[in-house]
Amino acid sequence: MPRFDVTIAGELNLDLVLYGLPAELAPERELLASDMMFTLGGSSAIVAHNLALLSNRVGFISRLGDDSMGQIALQRLAAAGVDVSQVRRAADGTATGLSVILQHGTWRNILTYPGTISKLCFEDLDFDYLSSARHFHLSSFYLQTALQPRVAELFQELKAVGLTISMDTNDDPDDRWQGGLWDVLRYVDVFLPNEREVLKITGEPKLEDATRRLAEIVPLVVVKRGAEGAIAQCGTDRFSSRPMKVDAIDTIGAGDSFDAGFISQYIRDADVETCLAYGNLAGALSTTRPGGTEAFRERPHREEFFRENAIALENSSHG
Ligand SMILES: Nc1ncnc2c1ncn2[C@@H]1O[C@H](COP(=O)(O)OP(=O)(O)OP(=O)(O)O)[C@@H](O)[C@H]1O
Ligand SMILES: [Mg+2]
Repeated sequence: MPRFDVTIAGELNLDLVLYGLPAELAPERELLASDMMFTLGGSSAIVAHNLALLSNRVGFISRLGDDSMGQIALQRLAAAGVDVSQVRRAADGTATGLSVILQHGTWRNILTYPGTISKLCFEDLDFDYLSSARHFHLSSFYLQTALQPRVAELFQELKAVGLTISMDTNDDPDDRWQGGLWDVLRYVDVFLPNEREVLKITGEPKLEDATRRLAEIVPLVVVKRGAEGAIAQCGTDRFSSRPMKVDAIDTIGAGDSFDAGFISQYIRDADVETCLAYGNLAGALSTTRPGGTEAFRERPHREEFFRENAIALENSSHG
């Protein structure tokens, strides 16, 4: 049996979320937030954290700066049970990345200092470690600029030794949606973009056409649709899954949480409907607390949420 269920190579940082700021930021004024949260950030780290709290063995490779923010992020990940033995300091003194998120009701500004996020490179990866798993996941393809040119090679090698692979691009800050993405997708088993991303990547105006084109290359295309839930396409078969009914207070990291829920069923060979239901469940749980990991971290809350939504879990356990 491999050492891990899932390995992940990617970014580890903190998110500072500020609530209640005006949508227009006037220069030179002191603008007051009504609330704040300092929490684990980085799509890769959120997926790893939440996968571990969904009872998966997770190994994580990342680079951090020599600073206290990096240490706090690392402790958060380790506290969830993720193996962090391969998280090292960046050799060149770069500081740990940071995202400042200005949450304005239903939309947000995301201001990111990439720092070590964009420093992780192919040479940093211990192949034996990454391959001692059933599955490998990559998030934030467009933030991982040092790794990006060799992601196709990495995927090809991991697939050659029997791992399945999932990827979530998240947003492209340059809004170009290139970087060899289509070459990389040839090695991906499960692609997990959101609706906006899938339209940008394909250049198709309609979701149906976008997923159909991607499904010609990727065996399982899953599109996250926020409060609309999620859809999937596998060959010519289409699936859709309604979202959980939930009092959503914060959608930051819901997509990453969805990925964790989906993957935790996918690696257990569950059917597509079950994977989608579990993705929606994990995404919905994430929205009940600020940030992408707080709802998972709070054990009684997490367990009560799963108990209350036992039907979805019940379905997933029969997968
Ligand atoms: N208001 C909501 N009610 C119920 N479920 C929700 C809600 N918002 C999000 N979700 C769940 O979370 C999943 C992911 O949400 P979303 O589409 O926002 O992903 P994303 O844009 O990739 O997010 P991220 O900002 O984390 O990258 C949805 O598919 C759904 O399952
Ligand atoms: Mg996303």
